[in-house]
Amino acid sequence: MSDAKLYPPTPEFAAGAHADADRYREMYAASIADPEAFWAEEAKRLDWITAPTKIKNVSFAHPDVSIKWFEDGVLNVCANCVDRHVESRGDQVAIIWEGDEPGTQKEITYIQLHEHVSRFANVLKGLGVTKGDRVTIYLPMIPEAAYAMLACARIGAVHSVVFAGFSPDALASRINDCGSSVVITADEARRGGRTVPLKANVDAALPHALGVEKVLVVEHTGAQVDMAATRDVWWHEAAAGVDDFCDPEPMSAEDPLFILYTSGSTGTPKGVLHSTGGYLLYAAMTQQYTFDYHDGDIFWCGADVGWVTGHSYILYGPLANGATTLMFEGVPTYPDASRFWRICEKYKVNQFYTAPTAIRALMGAGNQYVEGHDLSSLKVLGTVGEPINPEAWNWYNEQIGKGKTPIVDTWWQTETGGHLLTPLPGATATKPGSATLPFFGVEPVILDPTSGQEITGNPAEGVLCLKDSWPGQMRTVWGDHKRFVKTYFSDYKGYYFSGDGCRRDEDGYYWITGRVDDVINVSGHRMGTAEVESALVAHPKVSEAAVVGYPHAVKGQGIYCYVTLMAGQEPTEELRKELRDWVRKEIGPIASPDLIQWAPGLPKTRSGKIMRRILRKIAEDDFGALGDTSTLAEPAVVDDLIANRMNKG
Ligand code: WTA
Repeated sequence: MSDAKLYPPTPEFAAGAHADADRYREMYAASIADPEAFWAEEAKRLDWITAPTKIKNVSFAHPDVSIKWFEDGVLNVCANCVDRHVESRGDQVAIIWEGDEPGTQKEITYIQLHEHVSRFANVLKGLGVTKGDRVTIYLPMIPEAAYAMLACARIGAVHSVVFAGFSPDALASRINDCGSSVVITADEARRGGRTVPLKANVDAALPHALGVEKVLVVEHTGAQVDMAATRDVWWHEAAAGVDDFCDPEPMSAEDPLFILYTSGSTGTPKGVLHSTGGYLLYAAMTQQYTFDYHDGDIFWCGADVGWVTGHSYILYGPLANGATTLMFEGVPTYPDASRFWRICEKYKVNQFYTAPTAIRALMGAGNQYVEGHDLSSLKVLGTVGEPINPEAWNWYNEQIGKGKTPIVDTWWQTETGGHLLTPLPGATATKPGSATLPFFGVEPVILDPTSGQEITGNPAEGVLCLKDSWPGQMRTVWGDHKRFVKTYFSDYKGYYFSGDGCRRDEDGYYWITGRVDDVINVSGHRMGTAEVESALVAHPKVSEAAVVGYPHAVKGQGIYCYVTLMAGQEPTEELRKELRDWVRKEIGPIASPDLIQWAPGLPKTRSGKIMRRILRKIAEDDFGALGDTSTLAEPAVVDDLIANRMNKG
């Protein structure tokens, strides 16, 4: 695919960009040749209480893996995202909020943000939250979510945002894992004209999360909710009684900023821990360069703050840069599939960032939803979350970008804090479907999965690893450093292992080929197949389950479940629906099984290990590639599974 069509930046764009091709090459070379000097200089983009003198202290090869950046520096993230802009741009809008219902909106200036966040911080202090405490945030996409996160950062508390689409059980396990005693929620969330009972979900979670002492409740829809007398506190009542000034807490650069749970191959979701100094610096720098963000631009990242994309590119990156960031409560298809383009037109959005799954859904809805909307303000378009297929890329380019707006396909992960592979819009000629080249300071390598050796030269194909650290890298798994080392640093010694397969073409461009582990990517949401399996086997009628991904035209991957029922259970359509609802209840609607196949038996090795490779191939209708099935305990189960496979429609 090295011969894929190239889309070079126009000379006009390159001339006005933060980096053109020469500048990218120079800066990249400098960042690799002398990371200490490069990052010492970049650190100046933040306001430090004590500037760092120790820049990088990293060992990927050490058995305990230690990652430290700017370790003797002292700063406060909230002061960097809010206070320092109050004087220079206090009346500039910091956050534009567009509600789920068209016509509901708010604009919050930096001066107002400072006041809201300070009050929020004082309310948290009043609830007994102090530096180092964990606070769980389970909020819809409303400005209070930003206030709550920044307020935690202000007082040195560690926030753990749980996506508001997760179920009470999923919420409870995340609260317990990090030991939060305070939960922040709202009466209800609004999404696509419907409401989600967030406070009721918290009430259902708390009997399973006994450490929670206080629940702070934001009034959003005004719905009637139960308030427990000594435990639950209305945000608006508490806020009225506190001062609107709160000193930001001086924090070490290596103090934790937040925990964000993400799925892996095995076990329960991991608490990915990000740092104060390195994370903020990396989020800010990537927001500026990747999107070629300039002062005065209106920046819109369409993610949810419940995911890392929302953390880095709705909140921390843009606000550290003094940007105007847009926060959208709703969904792309409500009231209809023109909503994104109406919002772009309404606020004259300059940079727009979304996921391929949304692009495919809107492409499928038809061009009539785009036509008639003035999208001329758009300067850069971005995508994230999964490989973008050329058809969707072309539609985005032609219909939304009108053939003249650079597209940045950004590859990164919850663990990486910010973009690792991405074009820079003034510097990089793009190829549809390729995340192109590394960001400054990033050293990608492709390893042979069997030998673990680096494959030098092009083209190359194997697993994607990183040779050295970058400031935005996660520091540990909350409460389980051994798991951190085992997950990311033990398969390939001395490297950070991403879990992704990758190809590098003749031009040195990187093409992500998808996960090589048991993680699937459904509508841009990352999910562990093991989590869905354990939800299924928790159902009393299920004896065994195996879950794999399969190609899905809109979602990227769909969830395909093989289910073995308990003896005597009838495989009926009602039971299929029951299992689907069960998984939604156990995890959340994003984990809804797409297809459930009744499997009287699963292909297992003689030692009892499920051969997932075979199940994946059957789900993909790829029977020619089943490989050797003779080592199976009962080879005949494979024929049965093939004969009864589900129709993809
Ligand atoms: C996938 C989201 C191809 C990849 C920021 C990665 C991508 C996982 C891309 C991380 C991209 C993300 N092209 N694949 N541009 N971006 N991925 O933690 O498999 O939710 O490992 O972070 O998404 O998902 P996560």
